[in-house]
Amino acid sequence: MDSSAVLKGVKIVTDLPGPRAKQVIAEDEKYLATSTKSLPVVASRGYGCYIEDVDKNVFLDFSSGISTTNIGYGDEYVISKVEEQLHKLWHFAGTDFFYEEQVEAAKALIGVAPGSHDKKVFYANSGAESNEASLKLARSYTKRPQFIGFIGGFHGRTMGALAFTASQPVHHEGFFPEMNGVTHIPFPDPYRNPFNIDGYENPEDLTNAVLDYLEDYVFGRFLPSNSVAGILVEPIQGEGGYIVPPRDFHKRLMELAHDNEILYIMDEVQTGFGRTGTFFASEYFDVDPDIMSVAKSIASGIPMGASVVKSKYDFEKSGLHSNTFGGNLLAAVASRATIEEIKNKDMLTNSKNVGNYLNKRLKELSEKYDAIGDVRGLGLMQAIDFVKNRRTKAHFAALRDKTIENAYKRGLILLGAGESAIRFIPPLIINEKQVDEAIDILDSSIKAGL
Ligand SMILES: Cc1ncc(COP(=O)(O)O)c(C=O)c1O
Repeated sequence: MDSSAVLKGVKIVTDLPGPRAKQVIAEDEKYLATSTKSLPVVASRGYGCYIEDVDKNVFLDFSSGISTTNIGYGDEYVISKVEEQLHKLWHFAGTDFFYEEQVEAAKALIGVAPGSHDKKVFYANSGAESNEASLKLARSYTKRPQFIGFIGGFHGRTMGALAFTASQPVHHEGFFPEMNGVTHIPFPDPYRNPFNIDGYENPEDLTNAVLDYLEDYVFGRFLPSNSVAGILVEPIQGEGGYIVPPRDFHKRLMELAHDNEILYIMDEVQTGFGRTGTFFASEYFDVDPDIMSVAKSIASGIPMGASVVKSKYDFEKSGLHSNTFGGNLLAAVASRATIEEIKNKDMLTNSKNVGNYLNKRLKELSEKYDAIGDVRGLGLMQAIDFVKNRRTKAHFAALRDKTIENAYKRGLILLGAGESAIRFIPPLIINEKQVDEAIDILDSSIKAGL
């Protein structure tokens, strides 16, 4: 790579947003339909853990494009594989014909998926679309109509996935009726939960409370368990606030599901591909889900999603489900190369080690600022939660928002999660020195926000 392309550190050379960025944002508002923008970063180029904007400001990226670029920007190996494929063929019709690259990508994905059961892959184009496929697989196999989802969960915005999404009311405003047949139950949030259990001190009690709720109040009162096809759940709630449940939770819930012949569907869209220090967070929780939805970092930013399903739950006949672009050739080679890069560069070890270091540095900050009520996470999926009062744990969203804005002005890209948390999800190639760079900026950003 041309050395002028290398981005080495934060460098802010204009007021923010800069003049060119302001122009692009004004035109974006005119020509693009309203979506979910949160920071006025107009990205132009990426290298490693840094993003350069259209005014040549360089930002340290602690968002990884919302966990879509876990391996960092400008990875030479992935670029070479995609480039090679681009010159051969970038699309034909994976729906009706066959691609060798799709088979190889599926073998690579199954090779790193949790558990040892025979598995198959259905390719889609996004997280929501993968969840749609996972839900259809479950309904199709079980011939049952109902599902269980979680309060605080996020699974996407298409009408099926949206019916499970329960992290912000705005996601639903004006869109009912959505897919029917979804019952939400509380997620075991160790920090704030409706059972008033301290889930850090008593994790098993918290797991029991949620399982009892499902058995006694849901299955016991209104939803016959034999009408339920699947439980759709994130291993760690992402958009809902980076909530890490007790370690025994998923295994015990999956056992309860299986006792009732219900499929366990893990949404690893945000947690997958090394984010939490293992290839998939399911491994940490010691579960081998029946169906696993993945997307985001699966192909390092080239649109792709997938449902990885135990082979026995595959669609029973052709025509039940399909799409045009799922497993597109560029995405397929990028996905296989991404998996190889995560392994070859031992990014899982880095995610664990630097993730622990990041957690330690965030805990130091929480000793300095009473407004940080909780520090939580696994690997390089960490968060801090701002509170007005440590005893009441009242959300301090204003300080969270101010801190993100201050950090942006100082060259650090951060994203919120839940009502009052900031998530820290840098590329998995980040080192301790870059974490220190981020913590220094964060520290002064909180101080300036108080
Ligand atoms: C856990 C989870 N599932 C599904 C989705 C939806 O993915 P997409 O935006 O690619 O449809 C997201 C997106 O943030 C997510 O975090």
